[in-house]
Amino acid sequence: MTAPAPSSGEHLPVRTAAVWAALDALAGSGTPLRVLDVGGGSGVFAVPLARLGHQVTVVDPSADALATLERRATTAGVGDRVRGLQGDGDLLHELPLAEGDSDGGYDLALCHAVLEVVDDPATTLGEITRALRPGGQVSVATANRAGAVLARALSGHPKEALALLEDRDPAPGRTRPARRRFAPDDLLALLRNAGLEPAEWRGVAVVSDLLDATSDADPEAVRRLELALAGTSPYRDVATGLHVLATRP
Ligand SMILES: C[S@@+](CC[C@H](N)C(=O)[O-])C[C@H]1O[C@@H](n2cnc3c(N)ncnc32)[C@H](O)[C@@H]1O
Repeated sequence: MTAPAPSSGEHLPVRTAAVWAALDALAGSGTPLRVLDVGGGSGVFAVPLARLGHQVTVVDPSADALATLERRATTAGVGDRVRGLQGDGDLLHELPLAEGDSDGGYDLALCHAVLEVVDDPATTLGEITRALRPGGQVSVATANRAGAVLARALSGHPKEALALLEDRDPAPGRTRPARRRFAPDDLLALLRNAGLEPAEWRGVAVVSDLLDATSDADPEAVRRLELALAGTSPYRDVATGLHVLATRP
């Protein structure tokens, strides 16, 4: 049996409440949208959006993630509204994105937790901009450098916290490249340089990640608090993540 479609983020993880609130404003109107989820992985966002009636194309280099996406979409009864394409966010122009999208691009793109790991965030954002229709929007979520500094400090790693603060690699000895973190102004500049017009940024997981795992705080109350803090400084400044919607003019 197909589970009921979420009408908003209330059935979804509290820590991404601010992201879902922004997406709801775009995707909750009842008009089916063409959505491109770059680095959408196993469909944490794609499948709920498909359940709201949208047509979602997920681009991800991971075959495993795409296999999980397919299973998850089928289980949710939306296999016909989710398309997985194996590929790279830096090379969207090489993919058959236009299939089924004949009138000039996507209404909405997602780029969540991806700019941290791509080769070049500016290239990825440029590719996404070109995949949007004029007036289309991209939802960008990234790690927040200030939140990462505090998290390292509070977990007893002051040297790594200082390295992050100074934009140095907190673990220079490892083989994998460091995951990027973004300061809000740097993220906004990247979006503008890609030809996008960003709206105001919001903090994601301002308090959720600080809560003790054994906390019995009412999730609905935490969700309301997250939404209240997401747009409010100084709270949003130290959130785990940043979220911003940006429009292709
Ligand atoms: C942390 S996961 C985020 C998944 C999903 N966007 C979400 O928010 O739940 C990062 C995803 O980016 C994908 N990825 C890594 N390099 C990429 C690239 N160059 N282009 C597009 N996606 C990439 C990974 O395979 C992974 O699925």
